[in-house]
Amino acid sequence: MSAKQKNITQDIPQHVAIIMDGNGRWAKKRGKLRTFGHEHGVKAVRDTVEIAAEKGIKYLTLFAFSTENWKRPKFEVDTLMSLLVKSIHDEMPTLMKNNIILRAIGDIESLEKNCRKQLTSAIEQTSKNTGMTLVLALSYSSRWELTEACRKIAVEVQKGNILPHQITESTVQSFLTTNSIPDPELLIRTSGEYRISNFLLWQIAYSELYYTPKLWPDFGKEDFLEAIENFKQRERRFGLTSEQIK
Ligand code: IPE
Ligand code: IPE
Ligand code: MG
Repeated sequence: MSAKQKNITQDIPQHVAIIMDGNGRWAKKRGKLRTFGHEHGVKAVRDTVEIAAEKGIKYLTLFAFSTENWKRPKFEVDTLMSLLVKSIHDEMPTLMKNNIILRAIGDIESLEKNCRKQLTSAIEQTSKNTGMTLVLALSYSSRWELTEACRKIAVEVQKGNILPHQITESTVQSFLTTNSIPDPELLIRTSGEYRISNFLLWQIAYSELYYTPKLWPDFGKEDFLEAIENFKQRERRFGLTSEQIK
């Protein structure tokens, strides 16, 4: 069957989101502390950002720390925060060189002061770049985001700026932290877990899901390309029939 007959997507996605999972298991397999896995996960982040930018992906969203991850042991949380500060600092020249815009989604206010400062400064410094947008989901959970959106919409209704019958899907969308970012066409999760873990629930309504058994520190450029190739073979129907979209 030809590509045309199969009606494959062909284009590369403009937005790829990744649940970077498996650092702890990667370290444990080597008899090391979980934090050793997080340290090695940084290289996979670097490689993924590089290949995504190279391939012309417009938005790359990385789930780096969830609202629920705050409940992990203090030592692990502290290490993750330090790694974040260090990585942003170290990667600044590369982000600038590759024309990448940095953004963050999540409860940024809940991050420790030093971390927030580093992040805000990096976001500001890269804001004039025009290449790929790298979105870091930090202290992010979709239920948190949706609850926040409801609260903000309620305030607008109370002020009389919006009437209840005027609330549409676009209204909800505009109150999400991802408001100016298109929905991801492709969501990748590493480490062989088949779940979403409170990530972008609204935004992935029609995303293609791709699961790989690779643990995050082992995820390389070739794995990213494999996911893109797999995406290209998918038929995205959005509720229509195959015949309708041909
Ligand atoms: C992903 O790896 C990184 C974060 C969630 C911060 P994990 O730390 O969840 O590793 P596993 O899933 O326990 O192996
Ligand atoms: C999801 O991974 C969060 C991040 C990748 C940052 P988790 O490891 O926290 O998810 P669960 O607990 O396995 O669902
Ligand atoms: Mg995990």
